[in-house]
Amino acid sequence: MVTDLPRPLFSRWYRRLSPRMEEVGMAGLRRELLAGARGVVVEVGCGDGLNFGHYPETVTRVVAVEPEPTLRAAAEHAAPEAQVAVEVRAGTAEQLPVESGSADVAVLCLVLCSVRGRAAALGELRRVLRPGGELRFLEHTIAEDRRLRVVQRIADATLWPLLAGGCHTATDPLGDVERAGFAVQRVRRFDFPELAVRVPASPHVLGVAVA
Ligand SMILES: C[S@@+](CC[C@H](N)C(=O)[O-])C[C@H]1O[C@@H](n2cnc3c(N)ncnc32)[C@H](O)[C@@H]1O
Repeated sequence: MVTDLPRPLFSRWYRRLSPRMEEVGMAGLRRELLAGARGVVVEVGCGDGLNFGHYPETVTRVVAVEPEPTLRAAAEHAAPEAQVAVEVRAGTAEQLPVESGSADVAVLCLVLCSVRGRAAALGELRRVLRPGGELRFLEHTIAEDRRLRVVQRIADATLWPLLAGGCHTATDPLGDVERAGFAVQRVRRFDFPELAVRVPASPHVLGVAVA
């Protein structure tokens, strides 16, 4: 079983950039993503643990899976600061180190765009969620605008994945979630950050789907 996907340059860059992103609105989006979550949560690709402080008290336990060693170490450091119990585990989305049917909620936050085996990952999330469990997602998405889609595809074929930890911007998380058999309950599309010029990573989707 593969548990580690080291990306030392990306992890350093992400840790430097993310505080600014939190300030300009990402922290609010994380709160929106996690509001109302309850029970046992599996968070996949938790990074350095930026969601941990936003879990409401109705969450009893978070199992946070992260394959990048530097980010995982930072997440382990952040876990005790959260108001809910957080356990950090090594592993990948494609082979989750989590028991079947053990989770009430699964969380994907800016992760699916970097996962190579998206269908396998979503199959794993269905496996670990109890029937009727929720998948909460906040993800980059392919643009609705045709010109931006072209720009995304050029970015994905050139430097973007190298600079952004394997991220591909022209992915379709909503379609992937539906194809995996989840029923999408609600979804909101928006640009983040709100810039004068849209960039490949601007379009996002935030929503909830049921297993
Ligand atoms: C942009 S970061 C987002 C981190 C965190 N979720 C957040 O919201 O700040 C993308 C994360 O996905 C993780 N990742 C990449 N490929 C993965 C995979 N196959 N399985 C699980 N996580 C993966 C990376 O290690 C990284 O932590």
